[in-house]
Amino acid sequence: MSKNILITGGAGFIGSHLVDKLIEEKGHEVTVFDVLEEQVHGKRERPPNYLNKKAKFIQGSVTDYKKLERVVKESEIIFHLAAMVGVGQSMYQIEKYTRNNILGTANLLDIIVNSENRLEKLVIASSNTIYGEGKSKCNKCGIVFPNLRELNQLENKDWELNCPKCVIKVTPLHTDENKPLGSSSIYALSKQAQEQMSLLIGNTYDINTTALRLFLVYGPRQALSNPYTGVCAIFSARLFSGKPPIIFEDGFQSRDFVNVKDVCQALILAMEKEAARGEVFNVGSGTPITIKEVAEIITNKINPKLKPVYNQQYRIGDIRHCVADISKIKDKLGFKPTVKFEKGIDELIDWIKPQVKNIKDDSQKAIKELKEKGLLK
Ligand SMILES: NC(=O)c1ccc[n+]([C@@H]2O[C@H](COP(=O)([O-])OP(=O)(O)OC[C@H]3O[C@@H](n4cnc5c(N)ncnc54)[C@H](O)[C@@H]3O)[C@@H](O)[C@H]2O)c1
Ligand SMILES: [Zn+2]
Repeated sequence: MSKNILITGGAGFIGSHLVDKLIEEKGHEVTVFDVLEEQVHGKRERPPNYLNKKAKFIQGSVTDYKKLERVVKESEIIFHLAAMVGVGQSMYQIEKYTRNNILGTANLLDIIVNSENRLEKLVIASSNTIYGEGKSKCNKCGIVFPNLRELNQLENKDWELNCPKCVIKVTPLHTDENKPLGSSSIYALSKQAQEQMSLLIGNTYDINTTALRLFLVYGPRQALSNPYTGVCAIFSARLFSGKPPIIFEDGFQSRDFVNVKDVCQALILAMEKEAARGEVFNVGSGTPITIKEVAEIITNKINPKLKPVYNQQYRIGDIRHCVADISKIKDKLGFKPTVKFEKGIDELIDWIKPQVKNIKDDSQKAIKELKEKGLLK
């Protein structure tokens, strides 16, 4: 049956793909509520061209209680994706990140609890960043949860993680949902707050709520204008402007890249499956890949004459390894990643190519800002 669905932040990268799927494949009525943040959308008054024309668009911020209240009242299902999304940037725009991400979510929950509405389901986009470093194994101590690396370790370019108990090197494992949380940025803390506030309110008032901890999402429509997020888009934009990707540390840090199509699959499973009620789930590919591999794959595809640059710089607060254990979402919701990285990247590149002339590579600006704030060494 067709439902009235609200997607906050629905004009963004992930949201816009979800809009397409909900309208074209599922036949729902979708309303997008999005402030059109300049950093993501540039200066524009209208929604981006890629946004599905069958969606109803309302420009507004989740920090605007009255405006948000009007759209929440009409909705049977809400996907809350609106957020500021730059990890490094959140460390010097603390008020802005707290206002949009935490206060915005507080408004949403306040409205849900205090207004008359028809809400049946709330899905929150949380993030892998709330784990900090991933789960690891120490040959002496067994399973351990390493802390962030200390500054003097990084200064010595000693990149790999130490056991928090006996200080020998550890091996990264897949991280499951039971790992103790360890946010290491204001962004991560704000996602942790979003997740925990929503589940707490959901549980208290018996509102069917699910939080998905998305790992690194990539795919077409990822903002090329936003230099603060999305390493695949950043590398691609640089390569198309004739510049090599810049790699922090030694490139052997590992991550989990999940294609936006698979993220949409997970969002829809969270909406439809009763087993998702009150739960958190990792959403990743479950396959580790190093930043070195990512840079090489993208460089070979776009501009094989260039070589990625390793300048041994590092970002304060950066993690070394975090890859999703996706057993829970596979077992409980039937999630199955379908897009292999190599293939997904082709699609991203095909989408970027026609825009090459208009690409403004702002990655230097982001790097300069991080340096000035002492966050990049
Ligand atoms: N992309 C990833 O790798 C990733 C990983 C983990 C979690 N997430 C989460 O997924 C969600 C969507 O991220 P995305 O990658 O599509 O980012 P995005 O920047 O493309 O989309 C976010 C959208 O939210 C809008 N927005 C920002 N502040 C708003 C506000 N106050 N009110 C209304 N709209 C607002 C922006 O204009 C933008 O269209 C975010 O909550 C993000 O934290 C993303
Ligand atoms: Zn140990």
